[in-house]
Amino acid sequence: MIIGVPKEIKNNENRVALTPGGVAEMRKHNHTVYVQATAGVGSGFSDEDYVAAGATILPTIEEVYGIAEMIIKVKEPIASEYNLVKEGQLIFTYFHFASSEELTRAMIERKAICLAYETVEKKDRSLPLLIPMSEVAGRMAPQEGAKYLEKPLKGRGILLGGVPGVKPAEVLVLGGGIVGTQAAKIAAGFGARVTIMDINLTRLRELDDIMPANVVTQMSNHYNIKEAIKTADLIIGAVLIPGAKAPHLITRDMLKDMRPGTVLVDVAVDQGGCIETCKPTTHENPTFIIDDVVHYCVANMPGAVPFTSTLALTNATLPYAVLIANKGWQAACSQNDELRLGLNVVNGEVVYKGVAEAFDLPYTNVNNVLETYA
Ligand SMILES: NC(=O)c1ccc[n+]([C@@H]2O[C@H](COP(=O)([O-])OP(=O)(O)OC[C@H]3O[C@@H](n4cnc5c(N)ncnc54)[C@H](O)[C@@H]3O)[C@@H](O)[C@H]2O)c1
Repeated sequence: MIIGVPKEIKNNENRVALTPGGVAEMRKHNHTVYVQATAGVGSGFSDEDYVAAGATILPTIEEVYGIAEMIIKVKEPIASEYNLVKEGQLIFTYFHFASSEELTRAMIERKAICLAYETVEKKDRSLPLLIPMSEVAGRMAPQEGAKYLEKPLKGRGILLGGVPGVKPAEVLVLGGGIVGTQAAKIAAGFGARVTIMDINLTRLRELDDIMPANVVTQMSNHYNIKEAIKTADLIIGAVLIPGAKAPHLITRDMLKDMRPGTVLVDVAVDQGGCIETCKPTTHENPTFIIDDVVHYCVANMPGAVPFTSTLALTNATLPYAVLIANKGWQAACSQNDELRLGLNVVNGEVVYKGVAEAFDLPYTNVNNVLETYA
């Protein structure tokens, strides 16, 4: 198969969808890979690295889209890329269609085959291509929190780990899933005293078994949260109710119960946030202050660490990309249940129910579409 890797052009996006290692893997299976010039630079890979791995470098994005049967990307195509997408071309990337009617309609009109990372799903309902980014964001959260707790950045001026003779900081993590677990682990590593709250008692039992002694678990409910925020220095929001907006576990009126300089890192901001006062921010301007409480609400945290994020993402996407390249998307999606769930738009038809419902578009069952290709 002919595979194209364009350079990401979304603002501040430095990740790349295929590493030189990924190119070598594709070459091993006799696929041809075209990479746009400088596509990997933001993640630490030079054009020479790609050439050494067996790729051909193309100078422009038009040439990459023009030649490829499968485009592998990181972020959804932006408006200037819509017209580059060819009929029948497979695009394997994060789409998040339900948040953009314009993108959905553009991909329908282009008659592309859109396989979305975020809806590839395993039997146990886990999302293997979202997990790596949750891991990155989770591990980043205490690091960012520690930074904004410094006085010049308007925090309380407290060191997470304390020092001998001085108590460490208190960290409260709301949600004990992927993000929350990674956040708690790193905060504990800094030496902070960490409390993780979740509504899932089974999960709290697991965390209690595996976490170090400076992490305690507690049932998440309004009473416990209201008490804990009075003494927390850093609060990390990491809850998720799949398919729904995050619940507001901390409401505006609760900010007055916190100490001035408390830092809130709401990782769940991409689902509306679990802290009422959180609004999405960017890496250029990550924080704002309400009632002396510092809010950090960056919606694409992994974008700040592309060296790590690219490797984490491609470790998870490459096996699927190789499967698609080896079998063609039709056979790969027919035979692999996880990949089939990734199909969102096929040749002008919306085959993912949630996307069709979001914009009141006609929905076609994915199996019917695949049958026509059998
Ligand atoms: N900002 C970013 O850059 C970024 C990056 C990656 C992920 N995220 C987001 O982080 C959030 C968490 O993702 P995840 O992968 O950890 O999800 P997850 O499903 O692994 O974990 C969510 C946890 O929240 C718990 N929960 C649900 N309701 C709760 C409540 N009322 N109180 C306490 N806990 C509750 C669930 O039981 C679960 O354990 C998601 O919204 C995700 O989209 C953001």
